[in-house]
Amino acid sequence: MNYINNITEAIGHTPLLKLNRVGKDAGANVFVKLEHLNPSGSYKDRMALAMVEAAERGDTWNGKKLDEGGTVVEASAGNTAPAVAMVCAAKGYKAKIFLYRYQLEGGKNTRMLITQAYGPQVGISSEPDVYLTPEQIEEFSKQAPDLLHVLSAKMDCQLEEDKTENCVWVDQIYNPYNYIGQESLGREIYTQLDGQIDAIGCSVSSGASLFGMVRGLAENGVRPGLIFGVVPGGSEKYYDFPGEEADYGQFSVSDMKSVIADAVGLKKWVTEEPIVQKMLDAGYPDKVFCVSDEDARNMANRLCREEGIFCGMSSGANVAVALRIAKLLGPGKNVVTTIVDRRDRYLSETPYEKYVV
Ligand SMILES: Cc1ncc(COP(=O)(O)O)c(C=O)c1O
Repeated sequence: MNYINNITEAIGHTPLLKLNRVGKDAGANVFVKLEHLNPSGSYKDRMALAMVEAAERGDTWNGKKLDEGGTVVEASAGNTAPAVAMVCAAKGYKAKIFLYRYQLEGGKNTRMLITQAYGPQVGISSEPDVYLTPEQIEEFSKQAPDLLHVLSAKMDCQLEEDKTENCVWVDQIYNPYNYIGQESLGREIYTQLDGQIDAIGCSVSSGASLFGMVRGLAENGVRPGLIFGVVPGGSEKYYDFPGEEADYGQFSVSDMKSVIADAVGLKKWVTEEPIVQKMLDAGYPDKVFCVSDEDARNMANRLCREEGIFCGMSSGANVAVALRIAKLLGPGKNVVTTIVDRRDRYLSETPYEKYVV
């Protein structure tokens, strides 16, 4: 007999696929880790499980512990929401997920419906005017209107954790178990390619997937010659960097996030170091590339049509960059990136799906 007792045991151990059509004339070999095959449809299942298990042990920044019947809170734009909801469903916890209000204009989107299917309480983040004055809203809206909603949602989580018994906000942007959960990605890739990895990278939001993947390789003594990050065009509010690509040292985390965090009253986000900064402090990535919605979407379409990979836009962006690097490195080298998530969650945006991280 060969069976599992809980769906969380099906997380990880995903195949590594060599792109033989899309990558045919690429020069180097291009490999993709098929993370859309995880149970909730993205690589966030790895970190969701690690963060919930850490909460069960009380291994949290404020010592809060998740006991039986407890509630896990998180705010998310995309993949963390269904991943946390799935892990909570499988482990018997309640989940409360705040979705960003700005993404729901025009009604429900598919990511919300997918999350709701797992049964959590799904809330829409508060209007920014709950936390900010009209003057602050006017000032921040000029630079980062989306961030107003993101930070309001995080503040909703903080308040929810404070007021609810037996409740942990897992806070993916700061939680070390986000990248610790993603280290298995690196370990698996190390084994699948016998450690022969010349370049590796993926899209960066919290930075935990890239950081965890690289740490999983480092644990096995491997430091690929090129570690690359990928960000959507228009990410300037999150990162300061020149032009469409930048070398290590030329990019940094923009201080916009902590300025707004301070204004909404989210003290933790002002005093603690986010994961992406920890990754930069550790010396990664060597390069960051900016990819447009259109290039990300075109490559995601090609991956669907030419390789049968039903993936979203950030996977398209990852592969678009991996192919550029493969051309530079030439034959005999191995370039690795991730297929982040399944495309089903973007179908309500068809045919203008956006590259969001
Ligand atoms: C579609 C997509 N791609 C890439 C990322 C980046 O992953 P990370 O937060 O680990 O940097 C995310 C994270 O939210 C995502 O949802």
